[in-house]
Amino acid sequence: MKFNAPALFVTGFLVLGVGLIFWNMGNSSNNENAPVMVQVPDFSLKAKRGEAAFNATCAQCHGENGAGTDQGPPLVHDIYNPGHHADEAIRRAVSLGVRRHHWPYGDMPRQEHVKPSEVEAIIVYIRELQAANGIIYKPHQM
Ligand code: HEC
Repeated sequence: MKFNAPALFVTGFLVLGVGLIFWNMGNSSNNENAPVMVQVPDFSLKAKRGEAAFNATCAQCHGENGAGTDQGPPLVHDIYNPGHHADEAIRRAVSLGVRRHHWPYGDMPRQEHVKPSEVEAIIVYIRELQAANGIIYKPHQM
């Protein structure tokens, strides 16, 4: 049998190429931007107030239970653990807005109509959701 070197070469490339495509498809399923599966806990009273305020304003981008949408990231995500984004970061996000930096969704406009007492309740709500999903304080390292 005689080998046809160029043909072998081309076949090799094709096999490699198809392999790479499948490999990428497998990887995209743990894409950071996909909405996350969220366990919903029994909320405290304050968190329930926060949930109502969250659903009225934040859920349109951050999703039901903070799971994320194609307009905004999941807040039930390890990068928002209280060691990386303290409560103050949530207050600032609401009062000042957020410049796009962690995600590809764009800037978050400030949400001036949300009252400070609602923001405090939203913080409790987000923290209870996070804790129920194993997202707890981790010291921030860069
Ligand atoms: C119009 C869409 C939209 C709405 C409404 C919205 N957000 Fe956001 N939010 C975003 C986007 C997009 C980001 C991510 C910006 C980035 O890091 O790239 C973000 C980021 C955040 C962050 C992270 C801040 C940081 O320091 O990185 C917090 C906290 C947050 N949002 C809380 C809220 C809360 C609470 C509400 C409701 C009061 C809300 N958001 C409403 C789009 C939105």
